[in-house]
Amino acid sequence: MEDAREMVEFLIELGQSPLSLAMATSPWVVPTMQSIHIMAIAVIFISVLMIALRIVGITWGGVSIRSTANRFAPWAWCALAVLAATGTVLILAEPLRELMAISFWLKMILLVIAITISVRFLRAVHTDEAFTHPDEPAQSGLRRNAYVTIGIWVAIIFLGRFIAYDPLVWGSLSPISSV
Ligand code: HEM
Repeated sequence: MEDAREMVEFLIELGQSPLSLAMATSPWVVPTMQSIHIMAIAVIFISVLMIALRIVGITWGGVSIRSTANRFAPWAWCALAVLAATGTVLILAEPLRELMAISFWLKMILLVIAITISVRFLRAVHTDEAFTHPDEPAQSGLRRNAYVTIGIWVAIIFLGRFIAYDPLVWGSLSPISSV
């Protein structure tokens, strides 16, 4: 309990630092970062979707899974870097509201899971020659993983939006309700 109080005090202090105050009171920093964050969400989600839909056999017929991954994965990694950078600025502008949101931490947990799945998948894609066949249907386990991955990314997007409504969505479970 003492630790939690110290954490809240630290976040309040951080929010009062000159950098945070400059960002929070600027008329353009937060809206611009939010807009770039949203554009990067579109890029990462479409890139993941293109690869996942190729795996389940809906798009990119005649193109191998390896080629599809090579084409779209770099876009996803770049978008992730932009999301991390803009997300960090948004946190610095309002550290207490962002870091006390349960939605934020659930989003981060799902993000780590999604990144782990993607790294393992891309490693396999680059070593296993089975992924080079243009028309070979993916194995059922891989197809299931593709659907799960789409679900995780949809959940990440919902949780990102929920951050702004954390106490409304989670009620007393949201630490913000007790600050
Ligand atoms: C390290 C990576 C990331 C960090 C640190 C981060 C952090 C943040 C922060 C602080 C906000 C502002 C929340 C608010 O005040 O309402 C936000 C919004 C949001 N984030 Fe992220 N985020 C990251 C990655 C992602 C990813 C990968 C996605 C989904 C693909 C995502 C989806 C969203 C959505 C949908 C919003 C709401 C945007 C809006 O309506 O303005 N974020 N994120």
